[in-house]
Amino acid sequence: MSNTNSGTIFGHPKGLFLLFGTEMWERMSYYGMRGIFVLYLVAFAANFGWDMAYFGIDPAAADAQDQLTKALNKNALGILGIYAFWVYVTPVLGGWMADNHWGQRKAIIVGGVLMALGQFTLGTPHSMIPGLEVEFLYLGLFLLIMGNGFFKPNISTMVGDLYTEGDKRRDAAFTIFYMGINLGSILGYFVVGTIGEKINYQYGFLVAGVGMLLGVILQMSMSKKFLGNVGVEPAAKKSADNQEASNTPLTSEERDRVKVILIMSFFTIIFWLGFEQAAGSMNLFAKQKTDLMMFGFEIPASWLQSVNPIFVILFAPMFAAMWLKMGAAEPNSPKKFAMGMFFLGLGFISMVMAAIQIGDSDTAKASIIWLILAYMFHTMGELCLSPIGLSLVTKLAPLKYTSLLMGMWFFFSGVGNYAAAWVGQMVGDVGPFAAFMGVAIMAFVAGILLWLISGKLVDWMHGAEDNQPKDLTEKIEEELSVTGTHEGIKEQH
Ligand code: PHE
Repeated sequence: MSNTNSGTIFGHPKGLFLLFGTEMWERMSYYGMRGIFVLYLVAFAANFGWDMAYFGIDPAAADAQDQLTKALNKNALGILGIYAFWVYVTPVLGGWMADNHWGQRKAIIVGGVLMALGQFTLGTPHSMIPGLEVEFLYLGLFLLIMGNGFFKPNISTMVGDLYTEGDKRRDAAFTIFYMGINLGSILGYFVVGTIGEKINYQYGFLVAGVGMLLGVILQMSMSKKFLGNVGVEPAAKKSADNQEASNTPLTSEERDRVKVILIMSFFTIIFWLGFEQAAGSMNLFAKQKTDLMMFGFEIPASWLQSVNPIFVILFAPMFAAMWLKMGAAEPNSPKKFAMGMFFLGLGFISMVMAAIQIGDSDTAKASIIWLILAYMFHTMGELCLSPIGLSLVTKLAPLKYTSLLMGMWFFFSGVGNYAAAWVGQMVGDVGPFAAFMGVAIMAFVAGILLWLISGKLVDWMHGAEDNQPKDLTEKIEEELSVTGTHEGIKEQH
């Protein structure tokens, strides 16, 4: 469906780099806000009416201040958790909307504008809205949740729409797109984080809003030129025009393909459950049980959060090139997922080593190398799984459900994030050794399972990924039949 004729950069359509830029600004805004959000809630608690009376703390108690701090932290983390969960539920709605009514292009503009408004709502100075601070807080979050729902799945499906079925560059394209995501998050942590913490949290939100607007402007001004008509028409309508029956039930091949998406999405819950320990238990482990002195300087534990996006930027081009170079030997996506699980497991083995190093001692500290190694393996796993999964959804989803299934993909990652918090608490109960070992074993088992069923999954893809090398005519025939059903295109092309 590549209707873009404006040439290529690095062998990819120029539209990829426009989507890269738009998503970079959106993620700058998203992660920038997320980086300072909890700090803001605690610092401005009094304005929101969160005082001792609110939490039922007796001000006369000797440790009243301590209790308040604890209650505020817990309250802030609770709000962040609920927000982070809903942010990945709404993509199901946003995907459905794009498939059935708006098309992706309109959905991401609406989503982007809503998110910018959300940031501006959070950034509205409290002196301007006396008595309405909490209302503005929740309104801002609501706008961000809705906006992300319209934006996030749809920008991803458009990346896939730049490539025709069977185009071998698709995984590499998503890996490049993934770099944009992570460049954006680094930018967000530094720009929004610095302005927020050093000047004023609310200025941070305003800057995050401006970043989002830049993404919207970029998209609006360049999409005609670089995206052609990709994402203009709702997929369900296009599929109806081409197949003359929008409500024909899915064929059994299409049903198989949806099954593959759902099974593989299910495995991602396990992946995110482990991976997302980064901000939780691994963060605490860094702060409390790791020797953070480097060259005579104690680095803040939170800096370690940027190790992952930095590794993504470093490794993503290598992975993209590697997949392309492997040619016929390139592993299919279930096998790439399995590799992702193994890397995740290796990362947790590294954390187990850190736990062994400190043993039962309360004062011993683990070497920072273990954490960095763990983040390195986790990033390698992420690159085998996350961009590959996005690519897979766009490759396998029946045309009229592409964005909806992309929404489901994010929904499952939201569930994984949710489960991660639960596992994080377990680290406190059973200790780091047992908890990290448990996650490692779970990851290895999931990886082995995936590897074992990969052949079956590829069969269910019905030609979208080859199981065995075939001769050329067989390949062409299969590609043509699949392109017909998937793209909903019969005569044109
Ligand atoms: N860095 C990724 C992103 O923002 C993290 C993520 C993966 C989020 C999968 C949702 C789902 O896109």
